[in-house]
Amino acid sequence: MIALGVDIGGSGIKGAKVNTETGELLSEKIRIATPQPATPEAVAATLKELAAQFTDYEAIGCGFPATVHHGICFTAANIDQTWINTPVEKLFTETLGHPVFVINDADAAGIAEMKFGIGKDHEKEIVMMITVGTGLGSAIFVNGVLMPNTELGHLILSDDIAEHYCSDAARQREDLSWNKWGKRFNRYLQRLQFLFNPDLIILGGGASKSFSKYQDKIRVRTPVVPATTLNLAGIIGAAVYAAGETNAGHAPNITEAEEYIKKMLEAEAKHEKKKKQATAPKEEEDDD
Ligand code: BGC
Repeated sequence: MIALGVDIGGSGIKGAKVNTETGELLSEKIRIATPQPATPEAVAATLKELAAQFTDYEAIGCGFPATVHHGICFTAANIDQTWINTPVEKLFTETLGHPVFVINDADAAGIAEMKFGIGKDHEKEIVMMITVGTGLGSAIFVNGVLMPNTELGHLILSDDIAEHYCSDAARQREDLSWNKWGKRFNRYLQRLQFLFNPDLIILGGGASKSFSKYQDKIRVRTPVVPATTLNLAGIIGAAVYAAGETNAGHAPNITEAEEYIKKMLEAEAKHEKKKKQATAPKEEEDDD
């Protein structure tokens, strides 16, 4: 299938047409700067502008830098806080007037590597993809099957979440040498190895391109390799995801997402009410 794959990031929104059987790009990659502030409506409008520059595709898939569950964005570590609880598939589908499937960005990158990159020779194993950019993204595949939304960039390391300690943004922010950053990143990989015992760790995102600069600091028994699809992994994986969903006859989560959010908010309100009742001062009992 020919699908439009889009990678939504904090600084750029990039898209290209992809042959989802071969992983080949069928167009140039187009990039538009992410609007600031990157609110849901502003990002949706930019996505529409980007998609309008392509024709003749059958599906649209977007990699998104947050948890995407039931078509809803639940976290906002490196994006505008207003994304939390936004039904992202509904928003994008309605804005573009075309079904849009949305998946976590690291999961998308992992899908591309498992299908077209180094992961394809490791289908019968446990493979972890770690994307190293503004955040730390993770994807886990067991026998080729993805366990989505693992969020392992949020493990605690040195009293903070790992992505504050050893993402590429942390390296730049703290002006760390590759040696120093490599040691930090090695600690992170050691933790992942200890907790999950993967057979292979694939690195994606910005820092994967500089692998040779910190490779000698990586001391884990698990083989660690840079992604072969490099910074195109997010685009290719998002396109493959959308093609799979379309071929399976699935539609983006729209009504289900609304129902899910409604139930969630009702449960939260109930919980808040109970909490208030439990902490409210008891009325004085009558003496007579
Ligand atoms: C987010 C993840 C995302 C990663 C890479 C993290 O801050 O929580 O969902 O995959 O950044 O963009």
